[in-house]
Amino acid sequence: MKKYKVGVIGATGMVGQRFVTLIARHPWFELTEVAASARSAGRTYEEAVAGRWLMAEPVPDCAKHLTVKRAETDIDEICAHVDFVFSAVDMKKNEIQALEEAYARRECPVVSNNSAHRWTPDVPMVVPEINPEHLEVIPFQRKRLGTKRGFIAVKSNCSLQSYVPALHPLKDEFGLERALVCTYQAISGAGKTFETFPDIVDNVIPFIGGEEEKSEQEPLKLWGKVENGVIVKADAPSITAQCFRVACSDGHMAAVFASFSKKPTMEEIKARWASFSALPQKLELPSAPKQFLHYFEEENRPQTKLDRNLENGMAVSVGRLREDTQYDYKFVCLSHNTLRGAAGGAILLAELLCAQGYMD
Ligand SMILES: NC(=O)c1ccc[n+]([C@@H]2O[C@H](COP(=O)([O-])OP(=O)(O)OC[C@H]3O[C@@H](n4cnc5c(N)ncnc54)[C@H](OP(=O)(O)O)[C@@H]3O)[C@@H](O)[C@H]2O)c1
Repeated sequence: MKKYKVGVIGATGMVGQRFVTLIARHPWFELTEVAASARSAGRTYEEAVAGRWLMAEPVPDCAKHLTVKRAETDIDEICAHVDFVFSAVDMKKNEIQALEEAYARRECPVVSNNSAHRWTPDVPMVVPEINPEHLEVIPFQRKRLGTKRGFIAVKSNCSLQSYVPALHPLKDEFGLERALVCTYQAISGAGKTFETFPDIVDNVIPFIGGEEEKSEQEPLKLWGKVENGVIVKADAPSITAQCFRVACSDGHMAAVFASFSKKPTMEEIKARWASFSALPQKLELPSAPKQFLHYFEEENRPQTKLDRNLENGMAVSVGRLREDTQYDYKFVCLSHNTLRGAAGGAILLAELLCAQGYMD
Protein backbone atom coordinates (compact mmCIF):
# COMPACT_ATOMS: atom_id res chain seq x y z
CA MET A 1 0.00 0.00 0.00
CA LYS A 2 1.42 3.41 -0.98
CA LYS A 3 1.69 6.12 1.71
CA TYR A 4 -0.88 8.91 1.38
CA LYS A 5 0.11 12.48 2.33
CA VAL A 6 -2.51 13.80 4.67
CA GLY A 7 -3.48 17.20 6.11
CA VAL A 8 -5.69 18.07 9.05
CA ILE A 9 -7.70 21.29 9.04
CA GLY A 10 -8.75 22.24 12.56
CA ALA A 11 -5.66 20.34 13.73
CA THR A 12 -5.25 22.26 17.00
CA GLY A 13 -8.69 21.41 18.49
CA MET A 14 -9.70 18.34 20.47
CA VAL A 15 -10.77 16.27 17.47
CA GLY A 16 -7.87 17.61 15.40
CA GLN A 17 -5.40 16.50 18.08
CA ARG A 18 -6.94 13.03 17.97
CA PHE A 19 -6.50 12.98 14.17
CA VAL A 20 -2.86 14.03 14.47
CA THR A 21 -2.20 11.34 17.09
CA LEU A 22 -3.85 8.59 15.04
CA ILE A 23 -2.21 9.64 11.75
CA ALA A 24 1.23 9.71 13.43
CA ARG A 25 1.09 5.93 13.96
CA HIS A 26 -0.92 5.05 10.86
CA PRO A 27 0.60 2.54 8.42
CA TRP A 28 -0.84 4.20 5.27
CA PHE A 29 -0.95 7.92 6.17
CA GLU A 30 1.80 10.50 6.56
CA LEU A 31 1.00 13.88 8.15
CA THR A 32 2.30 16.66 5.89
CA GLU A 33 0.07 19.68 6.68
CA VAL A 34 -1.72 21.04 9.74
CA ALA A 35 -4.05 24.05 9.55
CA ALA A 36 -6.27 26.03 11.90
CA SER A 37 -7.45 29.63 12.41
CA ALA A 38 -5.45 32.84 12.19
CA ARG A 39 -4.94 32.48 15.97
CA SER A 40 -2.63 29.48 15.46
CA ALA A 41 -1.27 30.09 11.94
CA GLY A 42 2.45 30.77 11.56
CA ARG A 43 3.45 28.93 14.74
CA THR A 44 4.83 25.42 14.91
CA TYR A 45 2.22 22.82 15.81
CA GLU A 46 3.98 22.25 19.13
CA GLU A 47 3.72 25.97 19.95
CA ALA A 48 0.12 26.22 18.75
CA VAL A 49 -1.11 23.42 21.06
CA ALA A 50 1.09 24.35 24.05
CA GLY A 51 -1.06 24.53 27.19
CA ARG A 52 -4.07 22.91 25.46
CA TRP A 53 -2.79 19.49 24.40
CA LEU A 54 -5.49 17.05 25.56
CA MET A 55 -4.22 13.64 24.44
CA ALA A 56 -2.70 11.14 26.88
CA GLU A 57 0.41 10.71 24.73
CA PRO A 58 2.80 13.61 23.92
CA VAL A 59 2.61 15.68 20.73
CA PRO A 60 3.89 13.28 18.00
CA ASP A 61 7.36 14.03 16.63
CA CYS A 62 6.07 14.11 13.04
CA ALA A 63 3.72 17.00 13.95
CA LYS A 64 5.81 19.08 16.36
CA HIS A 65 7.76 21.08 13.80
CA LEU A 66 5.10 21.46 11.10
CA THR A 67 4.12 25.10 10.63
CA VAL A 68 0.39 25.60 11.17
CA LYS A 69 -1.20 27.06 8.04
CA ARG A 70 -4.32 29.17 7.93
CA ALA A 71 -7.10 26.82 6.77
CA GLU A 72 -9.17 29.53 5.05
CA THR A 73 -6.46 31.35 3.10
CA ASP A 74 -3.60 28.87 2.52
CA ILE A 75 -5.75 26.38 0.61
CA ASP A 76 -3.60 26.23 -2.54
CA GLU A 77 -0.41 25.65 -0.56
CA ILE A 78 -2.02 22.98 1.62
CA CYS A 79 -3.60 21.19 -1.37
CA ALA A 80 -0.22 21.12 -3.14
CA HIS A 81 1.27 18.98 -0.33
CA VAL A 82 -1.48 16.49 0.46
CA ASP A 83 -3.45 13.66 -1.16
CA PHE A 84 -6.47 14.50 1.00
CA VAL A 85 -7.45 16.30 4.22
CA PHE A 86 -9.42 15.52 7.35
CA SER A 87 -11.66 18.35 8.53
CA ALA A 88 -12.25 19.07 12.23
CA VAL A 89 -12.80 22.83 12.21
CA ASP A 90 -15.30 24.44 14.54
CA MET A 91 -16.91 27.29 12.58
CA LYS A 92 -20.42 28.32 11.52
CA LYS A 93 -22.21 25.71 9.40
CA ASN A 94 -22.22 27.80 6.21
CA GLU A 95 -18.51 28.63 6.69
CA ILE A 96 -17.62 24.95 7.10
CA GLN A 97 -19.66 24.04 4.02
CA ALA A 98 -17.86 26.70 1.96
CA LEU A 99 -14.41 25.78 3.32
CA GLU A 100 -14.78 22.03 2.73
CA GLU A 101 -16.14 22.68 -0.77
CA ALA A 102 -13.19 24.99 -1.52
CA TYR A 103 -10.77 22.12 -0.78
CA ALA A 104 -12.82 19.64 -2.81
CA ARG A 105 -12.97 22.05 -5.78
CA ARG A 106 -9.16 22.26 -5.70
CA GLU A 107 -9.14 18.48 -6.29
CA CYS A 108 -8.40 17.67 -2.65
CA PRO A 109 -10.78 15.07 -1.15
CA VAL A 110 -12.14 16.01 2.28
CA VAL A 111 -13.08 13.46 4.94
CA SER A 112 -15.03 15.45 7.47
CA ASN A 113 -15.89 15.03 11.09
CA ASN A 114 -18.31 17.97 10.90
CA SER A 115 -22.07 17.95 10.52
CA ALA A 116 -22.20 20.78 7.96
CA HIS A 117 -22.46 18.55 4.85
CA ARG A 118 -24.28 15.55 6.39
CA TRP A 119 -27.53 16.40 4.65
CA THR A 120 -26.03 17.47 1.30
CA PRO A 121 -27.80 14.87 -0.87
CA ASP A 122 -24.75 13.80 -2.92
CA VAL A 123 -22.33 13.76 0.05
CA PRO A 124 -21.97 10.23 1.42
CA MET A 125 -22.35 9.96 5.21
CA VAL A 126 -20.78 6.62 5.95
CA VAL A 127 -20.18 4.23 8.82
CA PRO A 128 -17.95 1.78 6.91
CA GLU A 129 -19.55 -1.33 8.45
CA ILE A 130 -23.07 -0.11 7.67
CA ASN A 131 -23.39 1.72 4.35
CA PRO A 132 -20.15 1.54 2.30
CA GLU A 133 -22.26 1.38 -0.88
CA HIS A 134 -23.16 5.08 -0.42
CA LEU A 135 -19.69 5.95 -1.76
CA GLU A 136 -21.27 5.36 -5.18
CA VAL A 137 -22.60 8.95 -5.09
CA ILE A 138 -19.05 10.35 -5.27
CA PRO A 139 -18.88 10.41 -9.12
CA PHE A 140 -22.17 12.36 -9.13
CA GLN A 141 -20.86 14.80 -6.53
CA ARG A 142 -17.67 15.26 -8.57
CA LYS A 143 -19.81 16.08 -11.59
CA ARG A 144 -21.70 18.77 -9.61
CA LEU A 145 -18.44 20.23 -8.28
CA GLY A 146 -16.72 20.00 -11.67
CA THR A 147 -13.83 17.98 -10.22
CA LYS A 148 -11.91 14.88 -11.29
CA ARG A 149 -10.64 13.90 -7.82
CA GLY A 150 -12.09 16.30 -5.26
CA PHE A 151 -15.14 15.36 -3.18
CA ILE A 152 -16.44 15.48 0.39
CA ALA A 153 -17.32 12.43 2.49
CA VAL A 154 -18.53 12.68 6.08
CA LYS A 155 -19.05 10.52 9.11
CA SER A 156 -22.24 10.56 11.16
CA ASN A 157 -22.83 12.05 14.60
CA CYS A 158 -21.08 10.48 17.60
CA SER A 159 -24.29 9.86 19.59
CA LEU A 160 -25.61 7.20 17.19
CA GLN A 161 -22.35 5.28 16.72
CA SER A 162 -23.31 3.07 19.65
CA TYR A 163 -26.90 2.03 18.92
CA VAL A 164 -27.10 2.11 15.10
CA PRO A 165 -24.39 -0.59 14.76
CA ALA A 166 -26.33 -2.82 17.19
CA LEU A 167 -29.68 -2.25 15.44
CA HIS A 168 -28.26 -2.62 11.92
CA PRO A 169 -27.83 -6.44 11.77
CA LEU A 170 -31.37 -6.84 13.20
CA LYS A 171 -33.13 -4.28 11.00
CA ASP A 172 -33.89 -6.18 7.80
CA GLU A 173 -33.80 -9.72 9.21
CA PHE A 174 -36.43 -9.06 11.90
CA GLY A 175 -38.16 -5.94 10.52
CA LEU A 176 -37.11 -3.22 12.98
CA GLU A 177 -40.19 -1.00 13.33
CA ARG A 178 -39.39 1.47 16.10
CA ALA A 179 -36.71 2.31 18.61
CA LEU A 180 -36.44 4.57 21.63
CA VAL A 181 -32.96 5.64 22.75
CA CYS A 182 -31.66 7.61 25.73
CA THR A 183 -28.01 8.57 25.38
CA TYR A 184 -25.56 9.36 28.19
CA GLN A 185 -22.82 11.35 26.49
CA ALA A 186 -19.29 12.21 27.63
CA ILE A 187 -18.00 15.75 27.96
CA SER A 188 -15.26 15.30 25.33
CA GLY A 189 -18.16 15.28 22.84
CA ALA A 190 -18.53 18.97 23.66
CA GLY A 191 -14.77 19.48 23.26
CA LYS A 192 -14.49 19.74 27.07
CA THR A 193 -12.51 18.28 29.97
CA PHE A 194 -13.40 18.35 33.69
CA GLU A 195 -11.07 21.36 34.02
CA THR A 196 -12.85 23.34 31.31
CA PHE A 197 -16.36 22.16 32.25
CA PRO A 198 -16.57 22.34 36.09
CA ASP A 199 -20.41 22.61 35.98
CA ILE A 200 -20.63 18.94 34.93
CA VAL A 201 -18.93 17.59 38.06
CA ASP A 202 -21.58 15.82 40.21
CA ASN A 203 -24.17 16.67 37.56
CA VAL A 204 -26.27 15.51 34.60
CA ILE A 205 -27.44 18.05 32.01
CA PRO A 206 -30.57 16.90 30.14
CA PHE A 207 -29.95 18.90 26.96
CA ILE A 208 -27.39 18.83 24.12
CA GLY A 209 -28.28 21.31 21.39
CA GLY A 210 -29.34 19.62 18.13
CA GLU A 211 -28.35 16.15 19.32
CA GLU A 212 -31.80 14.57 19.58
CA GLU A 213 -32.72 15.53 15.99
CA LYS A 214 -29.38 14.10 14.76
CA SER A 215 -29.91 10.92 16.79
CA GLU A 216 -33.37 10.40 15.27
CA GLN A 217 -32.71 11.50 11.66
CA GLU A 218 -29.13 10.55 10.75
CA PRO A 219 -29.78 6.78 11.05
CA LEU A 220 -32.35 7.19 8.27
CA LYS A 221 -29.73 8.64 5.92
CA LEU A 222 -27.32 5.79 6.83
CA TRP A 223 -30.09 3.31 5.99
CA GLY A 224 -31.10 5.22 2.84
CA LYS A 225 -30.55 4.24 -0.82
CA VAL A 226 -28.59 5.74 -3.67
CA GLU A 227 -31.05 6.84 -6.35
CA ASN A 228 -30.21 9.02 -9.37
CA GLY A 229 -26.91 10.18 -7.87
CA VAL A 230 -28.23 11.22 -4.46
CA ILE A 231 -28.96 9.46 -1.18
CA VAL A 232 -32.66 9.16 -0.43
CA LYS A 233 -33.24 8.62 3.28
CA ALA A 234 -35.19 5.64 4.55
CA ASP A 235 -38.66 6.36 5.94
CA ALA A 236 -38.45 3.73 8.68
CA PRO A 237 -37.81 2.73 11.44
CA SER A 238 -39.23 5.45 13.65
CA ILE A 239 -36.67 6.56 16.25
CA THR A 240 -37.21 8.82 19.27
CA ALA A 241 -34.28 10.06 21.36
CA GLN A 242 -33.34 11.92 24.53
CA CYS A 243 -29.67 12.94 24.90
CA PHE A 244 -28.03 13.77 28.24
CA ARG A 245 -24.56 15.09 29.04
CA VAL A 246 -23.04 13.10 31.91
CA ALA A 247 -19.91 13.42 34.04
CA CYS A 248 -17.67 11.06 32.01
CA SER A 249 -14.54 12.12 30.13
CA ASP A 250 -14.99 9.81 27.08
CA GLY A 251 -17.59 7.26 25.96
CA HIS A 252 -21.21 7.65 24.85
CA MET A 253 -23.67 5.10 26.28
CA ALA A 254 -27.20 4.47 24.99
CA ALA A 255 -30.19 2.73 26.58
CA VAL A 256 -32.13 1.24 23.66
CA PHE A 257 -35.69 -0.13 23.36
CA ALA A 258 -36.70 -1.78 20.08
CA SER A 259 -39.72 -3.50 18.48
CA PHE A 260 -39.78 -5.69 15.38
CA SER A 261 -42.41 -6.94 12.92
CA LYS A 262 -40.97 -10.48 13.27
CA LYS A 263 -39.94 -10.63 16.92
CA PRO A 264 -36.69 -12.62 17.20
CA THR A 265 -35.59 -14.69 20.19
CA MET A 266 -32.80 -13.40 22.42
CA GLU A 267 -30.54 -16.15 21.05
CA GLU A 268 -31.23 -15.03 17.46
CA ILE A 269 -30.33 -11.42 18.35
CA LYS A 270 -27.10 -12.44 20.08
CA ALA A 271 -26.20 -14.71 17.16
CA ARG A 272 -26.68 -11.82 14.67
CA TRP A 273 -24.46 -9.57 16.78
CA ALA A 274 -21.76 -12.22 17.19
CA SER A 275 -21.60 -13.02 13.48
CA PHE A 276 -21.82 -9.45 12.19
CA SER A 277 -18.81 -8.70 10.04
CA ALA A 278 -18.68 -6.22 7.16
CA LEU A 279 -16.49 -4.77 4.42
CA PRO A 280 -13.84 -3.15 6.71
CA GLN A 281 -13.24 -6.54 8.36
CA LYS A 282 -13.13 -8.30 4.97
CA LEU A 283 -10.68 -5.73 3.59
CA GLU A 284 -8.70 -5.88 6.87
CA LEU A 285 -8.56 -2.09 7.03
CA PRO A 286 -5.93 -1.03 9.60
CA SER A 287 -8.42 0.68 11.97
CA ALA A 288 -11.22 -1.88 11.62
CA PRO A 289 -12.05 -3.76 14.81
CA LYS A 290 -11.83 -7.53 14.39
CA GLN A 291 -15.16 -8.00 16.19
CA PHE A 292 -17.33 -4.90 15.62
CA LEU A 293 -20.05 -5.80 18.17
CA HIS A 294 -19.02 -7.33 21.52
CA TYR A 295 -21.81 -8.72 23.68
CA PHE A 296 -21.22 -8.83 27.45
CA GLU A 297 -23.15 -11.47 29.43
CA GLU A 298 -22.28 -9.78 32.78
CA GLU A 299 -25.32 -7.91 34.05
CA ASN A 300 -23.37 -4.74 34.90
CA ARG A 301 -21.56 -4.31 31.55
CA PRO A 302 -20.76 -2.49 29.37
CA GLN A 303 -19.38 0.23 31.61
CA THR A 304 -18.06 3.48 30.20
CA LYS A 305 -14.73 3.46 32.04
CA LEU A 306 -14.05 -0.26 31.60
CA ASP A 307 -15.17 -0.84 28.03
CA ARG A 308 -14.85 2.34 25.93
CA ASN A 309 -11.35 1.44 24.69
CA LEU A 310 -12.31 -2.00 23.37
CA GLU A 311 -10.35 -2.77 20.16
CA ASN A 312 -8.60 0.63 20.29
CA GLY A 313 -11.92 2.40 20.84
CA MET A 314 -13.27 1.22 17.47
CA ALA A 315 -15.59 -1.60 18.61
CA VAL A 316 -19.09 -1.22 20.04
CA SER A 317 -20.01 -2.87 23.36
CA VAL A 318 -23.51 -4.22 23.94
CA GLY A 319 -25.10 -5.76 27.02
CA ARG A 320 -28.18 -6.25 29.20
CA LEU A 321 -30.40 -7.66 26.42
CA ARG A 322 -33.78 -8.54 27.91
CA GLU A 323 -37.49 -8.52 27.11
CA ASP A 324 -39.42 -5.32 27.76
CA THR A 325 -43.03 -4.71 28.82
CA GLN A 326 -43.71 -2.05 26.15
CA TYR A 327 -41.16 -2.74 23.40
CA ASP A 328 -39.98 -6.21 22.34
CA TYR A 329 -36.48 -5.83 23.81
CA LYS A 330 -34.22 -3.42 25.65
CA PHE A 331 -30.42 -3.33 25.83
CA VAL A 332 -27.42 -1.05 26.41
CA CYS A 333 -24.72 0.06 23.94
CA LEU A 334 -21.44 1.94 24.34
CA SER A 335 -18.94 3.47 21.93
CA HIS A 336 -15.90 5.74 22.30
CA ASN A 337 -17.08 9.15 21.08
CA THR A 338 -13.76 10.67 20.01
CA LEU A 339 -12.39 7.41 18.53
CA ARG A 340 -15.17 5.45 16.76
CA GLY A 341 -17.47 8.49 17.12
CA ALA A 342 -15.10 11.12 15.69
CA ALA A 343 -11.50 10.94 14.42
CA GLY A 344 -11.21 7.12 14.44
CA GLY A 345 -14.45 6.74 12.47
CA ALA A 346 -13.24 9.31 9.92
CA ILE A 347 -9.87 7.54 9.61
CA LEU A 348 -11.62 4.21 8.99
CA LEU A 349 -13.73 5.93 6.32
CA ALA A 350 -10.57 7.33 4.71
CA GLU A 351 -9.04 3.84 4.72
CA LEU A 352 -12.12 2.52 2.92
CA LEU A 353 -11.90 5.36 0.37
CA CYS A 354 -8.21 4.53 -0.22
CA ALA A 355 -8.89 0.79 -0.52
CA GLN A 356 -11.63 1.46 -3.07
CA GLY A 357 -9.52 3.79 -5.22
CA TYR A 358 -11.29 7.09 -4.47
CA MET A 359 -8.06 8.75 -3.25
CA ASP A 360 -5.94 7.81 -6.32
N1 LIG B 1 -15.37 16.67 20.33
C1 LIG B 1 -16.03 15.64 19.76
O1 LIG B 1 -16.06 14.51 20.26
C2 LIG B 1 -16.74 15.84 18.46
C3 LIG B 1 -17.44 14.76 17.95
C4 LIG B 1 -18.06 14.91 16.71
C5 LIG B 1 -18.00 16.10 16.04
N2 LIG B 1 -17.34 17.17 16.58
C6 LIG B 1 -17.24 18.39 15.76
O2 LIG B 1 -15.89 18.52 15.31
C7 LIG B 1 -15.53 19.89 15.19
C8 LIG B 1 -14.30 20.14 16.04
O3 LIG B 1 -14.62 19.87 17.41
P1 LIG B 1 -13.56 20.08 18.56
O4 LIG B 1 -14.19 19.58 19.79
O5 LIG B 1 -12.24 19.53 18.14
O6 LIG B 1 -13.46 21.70 18.60
P2 LIG B 1 -12.28 22.62 19.19
O7 LIG B 1 -11.48 21.88 20.18
O8 LIG B 1 -12.93 23.91 19.59
O9 LIG B 1 -11.34 22.91 17.90
C9 LIG B 1 -11.77 23.70 16.85
C10 LIG B 1 -10.74 23.75 15.73
O10 LIG B 1 -11.26 24.58 14.68
C11 LIG B 1 -10.31 25.58 14.38
N3 LIG B 1 -10.96 26.78 13.90
C12 LIG B 1 -11.86 27.56 14.53
N4 LIG B 1 -12.20 28.62 13.74
C13 LIG B 1 -11.49 28.48 12.59
C14 LIG B 1 -11.36 29.24 11.41
N5 LIG B 1 -12.05 30.37 11.23
N6 LIG B 1 -10.55 28.78 10.42
C15 LIG B 1 -9.86 27.65 10.58
N7 LIG B 1 -9.90 26.88 11.70
C16 LIG B 1 -10.71 27.30 12.69
C17 LIG B 1 -9.57 25.82 15.67
O11 LIG B 1 -8.34 26.48 15.42
P3 LIG B 1 -7.61 27.43 16.53
O12 LIG B 1 -7.02 26.51 17.53
O13 LIG B 1 -6.62 28.16 15.71
O14 LIG B 1 -8.69 28.30 17.12
C18 LIG B 1 -9.41 24.39 16.16
O15 LIG B 1 -8.35 23.76 15.46
C19 LIG B 1 -16.75 20.68 15.62
O16 LIG B 1 -17.49 21.05 14.47
C20 LIG B 1 -17.54 19.70 16.48
O17 LIG B 1 -18.91 19.99 16.46
C21 LIG B 1 -16.69 17.06 17.76
